[in-house]
Amino acid sequence: MAPFTFFALALLLVFTVPTHQAGTDGINSLVQRLIPNHASGFEFQLIGQKNDTENDDYHISSTSNGKILVAGNSISALAVGLRRYLTEQANVDIYWYIGSRLHLIPQTLPNITNPIAGSSIVPYRYHFNTVTFSYTSAFWTWDDWELQLDWMALHGINLPLAWVGQEKLLFETFSDAGFNDTEIFDFLSGPPFQAWNRFGNIQGDWGGQLPMSWIDEQFELNKKIVARMVELGMTPILPAFTGFVPRAIDRVYPNASVLIGSQWEDFSPRYTNDTFLNPSENPELFTQLQKSFISKQQDAYGNVTHIYTLDQYNENDPSSGDLDFLRNLTQNTWASLKAADPESIWVMQAWLFHSNVDFWTNERIEAYLGGAPNEDMLILDLFSESSPQWQRTNSYYGKPWIWCQLHNYGGNLGLYGQIMNLTIDPIQALQNSSSLVGFGLSMEGQEGNQIVYDLLLDQAWSEEPIDTDIYFHDWVSSRYNSGTGIGTIPQALYSAWDQMRTTVYNSTNTTFIPGVQKSVLELSPKINGIYNKTGRHGTTVYYDPSVLSMAWSLFYQASEETPALWDNPAYKYDYVDISRQVLSNAFTQAYFDFVSSYNATNGSQATSNNETDMLSTYSSTLSGILLSLDAVLATNGHFRLSTWIADARAWANDTDLTSYYEYNARNQLTLWGPTGEINDYASKVWSGLVSSYYLPRWLAFTDYITTTPRAEYNETELTGHFMSFSESWQNETWGLSGNETYSEEGDLFVVMSQLRSDWPTLFGST
Ligand SMILES: *[C@@H]1O[C@H](CO)[C@@H](O)[C@H](O)[C@H]1NC(C)=O
Ligand SMILES: *[C@@H]1O[C@H](CO)[C@@H](O)[C@H](O)[C@H]1NC(C)=O
Ligand SMILES: *[C@@H]1O[C@H](CO)[C@@H](O)[C@H](O)[C@H]1NC(C)=O
Ligand SMILES: *[C@@H]1O[C@H](CO)[C@@H](O)[C@H](O)[C@H]1NC(C)=O
Ligand SMILES: *[C@@H]1O[C@H](CO)[C@@H](O)[C@H](O)[C@H]1NC(C)=O
Ligand SMILES: *[C@@H]1O[C@H](CO)[C@@H](O)[C@H](O)[C@H]1NC(C)=O
Ligand SMILES: *[C@@H]1O[C@H](CO)[C@@H](O)[C@H](O)[C@H]1NC(C)=O
Ligand SMILES: *[C@@H]1O[C@H](CO)[C@@H](O)[C@H](O)[C@H]1NC(C)=O
Ligand SMILES: *[C@@H]1O[C@H](CO)[C@@H](O)[C@H](O)[C@H]1NC(C)=O
Ligand SMILES: *[C@@H]1O[C@H](CO)[C@@H](O)[C@H](O)[C@H]1NC(C)=O
Ligand SMILES: *[C@@H]1O[C@H](CO)[C@@H](O)[C@H](O)[C@H]1NC(C)=O
Ligand SMILES: *[C@@H]1O[C@H](CO)[C@@H](O)[C@H](O)[C@H]1NC(C)=O
Repeated sequence: MAPFTFFALALLLVFTVPTHQAGTDGINSLVQRLIPNHASGFEFQLIGQKNDTENDDYHISSTSNGKILVAGNSISALAVGLRRYLTEQANVDIYWYIGSRLHLIPQTLPNITNPIAGSSIVPYRYHFNTVTFSYTSAFWTWDDWELQLDWMALHGINLPLAWVGQEKLLFETFSDAGFNDTEIFDFLSGPPFQAWNRFGNIQGDWGGQLPMSWIDEQFELNKKIVARMVELGMTPILPAFTGFVPRAIDRVYPNASVLIGSQWEDFSPRYTNDTFLNPSENPELFTQLQKSFISKQQDAYGNVTHIYTLDQYNENDPSSGDLDFLRNLTQNTWASLKAADPESIWVMQAWLFHSNVDFWTNERIEAYLGGAPNEDMLILDLFSESSPQWQRTNSYYGKPWIWCQLHNYGGNLGLYGQIMNLTIDPIQALQNSSSLVGFGLSMEGQEGNQIVYDLLLDQAWSEEPIDTDIYFHDWVSSRYNSGTGIGTIPQALYSAWDQMRTTVYNSTNTTFIPGVQKSVLELSPKINGIYNKTGRHGTTVYYDPSVLSMAWSLFYQASEETPALWDNPAYKYDYVDISRQVLSNAFTQAYFDFVSSYNATNGSQATSNNETDMLSTYSSTLSGILLSLDAVLATNGHFRLSTWIADARAWANDTDLTSYYEYNARNQLTLWGPTGEINDYASKVWSGLVSSYYLPRWLAFTDYITTTPRAEYNETELTGHFMSFSESWQNETWGLSGNETYSEEGDLFVVMSQLRSDWPTLFGST
């Protein structure tokens, strides 16, 4: 049907079908929040209500009294229609870390001469990885969540995880079951580690004891989050009782049959090997706890959803691979959920099938999933762009599933994207799998590279793979728009993004670098094993790094043409981000040169003047890069350690707790565990972290290398040194230790000019 006919039909419906005005309050409030000048300029009409299996559609037109009318069959459709109008007609959009730019829309709303229509190609658009709640939003306040939820609504998300604050419900469930407070606190993990506690990878808190005030306040926060999600047309996915219980189950239910989970990463048994109440052996107790948890949750949030997330074997292998054993686990867990909510649907992350391919053979997956009817589960194919599991499992043996982009590990910051896979593969999947019901985002950390997240969400409204050439161009037009009077966006910015599109954002070998990569500078220094790494957290620069030097110069050129860009928050953020990547890549190269020349000393002390000179030249290059990097990052609050720490400390309602929060915040970024169990996994190239953590490590390393003959190089000695440095850094306190420098906000123009003169080969003129 041509869009116009569709629209005419819809208009007819507007007048014949009673509309549900109450349902549009949420979207009207969103307009009031983000575009207050035009609060009455938009009109929203719900035309009927789509069901769970239908796609969304919207129609945009101008009314005779000059308003913009968005009509659609769901709130989500209205929100997407609104964003389409705002981006296409007025070049304004909303972003993570930059905020909403929607208020920059012209005083007079552009009229729609030819009505516009759009339809989703999948009924569901999903958002969040379970661990995003720890890597990115651990310390978020309601203000942060409001922006996030508006962003999600306008991007068509209608099925988000709502995973904040569940410890309150768990605590009460366990209390009612007879556990005492100490026994429950022994089980719970620290604020930025809760995700892994919730699905049974870890237990306990190596930073102290989770404060009750945290538990209460997070729960209050989630009440607001869930209510706002519902208001904005989203169906929240809420937690359920998973089966992981405090160790004291032995005391409380001496006859319960439990299983001990596997060891996770390098954690000592004290903090892992979680106790799991076997649903097959204790169906009554398991169901009792499930009902207790779910009914408390319904009391708290209302009956707003029937969709629950429940992961039992995420990076935690079942104690047996027996097919009946696996089928029974699911069957009994499913039965407990059905007893608690007869309409329940169980959402599961399929990450385990990727992360432990050896255990999860096809027949085991089939048995495990076989314990629940197809229509009662929804599977998140968590890493579809690089390691899809849906083909080998024949679409999870018929279960509904969602194509998800993971992209990011641990909130690492590298520039990275797979524009081909994001546009071509989900469309092919839709043609080849009848149980594919949605597209989604499952990033571990929601950090940079927003363009590739926008791209997949917009692909959910296009039957053809999106043409990325046009897409990037339009994205740039909205991104740097700073309102009426800015004039045109400098061509140099379009060129910079187009160059990145075909290189940095066109990673195609998914075995080689499957997601966001790190720079060597974030890793514990040593002479081998960190350079040119491939796979997860790879360090290989998979594009010609001069491309980013070129993009950098184009950004500079753009500001010469339009000096007002120095006040544009999107320009400032992106320019810092590109500078970060240029310097990070340069560090990797300088590291290689340094270690190569050390290796070339053939085992002896670097004695010849030439050798000593080379080593000391490379040493100063390495530290010089880190100092420049820290300075440029310091100009932007989103790239500062102090922001993360301040956000964590702000949760302390009692000053005694500030160092507890700060320890937790620091520990996740660095040691990740009491003694470096997954050291440097969640590393961030942030100002303050570079100067107080990475720089001292590298200075110690270059010092060691220049004074230790190659034959005497001792990695154990070096590692031991770094571990004691890291352990003491964990306990430092912001602003109190006096031995850290937190750079003040610098003037971006001054810092960028300095980069040009300090590193002419990296930041030369075009
Ligand atoms: C949803 O609506 C479509 C179109 O009206 C219909 O074919 C389908 O059976 C409905 N599905 C459900 C689950 O109600
Ligand atoms: C849009 O149309 C309305 C009524 O048709 C008119 O009053 C208004 O001036 C138009 N706006 C623009 C920007 O052309
Ligand atoms: C909780 O139970 C443990 C035994 O598991 C006991 O040692 C402890 O004293 C109890 N604590 C409280 C506060 O009752
Ligand atoms: C923890 O799990 C590992 C298997 O991953 C096992 O070898 C070890 O014995 C377990 N430790 C305890 C204390 O249960
Ligand atoms: C929510 O659902 C439960 C079980 O289906 C029911 O007992 C309860 O009354 C409902 N609560 C509300 C507020 O509708
Ligand atoms: C699985 O459950 C069935 C039915 O309850 C039972 O007969 C069988 O022994 C169980 N198998 C295992 C391995 O637990
Ligand atoms: C996407 O990635 C998969 C591997 O995960 C690969 O087989 C496929 O060819 C890629 N598709 C495109 C269009 O790049
Ligand atoms: C991305 O890379 C692939 C493989 O090198 C190439 O075929 C394709 O044309 C590139 N696409 C873009 C948009 O650069
Ligand atoms: C992709 O990378 C892997 C690992 O580095 C390599 O073995 C493979 O040959 C590459 N594939 C292509 C098509 O370049
Ligand atoms: C690093 O890896 C890339 C890609 O595999 C390769 O082309 C390059 O030669 C490697 N560099 C070094 C110095 O080994
Ligand atoms: C230096 O030597 C070590 C040990 O032989 C080796 O593993 C490493 O790859 C070498 N590094 C470079 C950059 O040549
Ligand atoms: C110093 O040594 C390097 C590597 O062996 C060599 O390339 C360079 O030419 C030497 N420089 C001088 C001044 O001898």
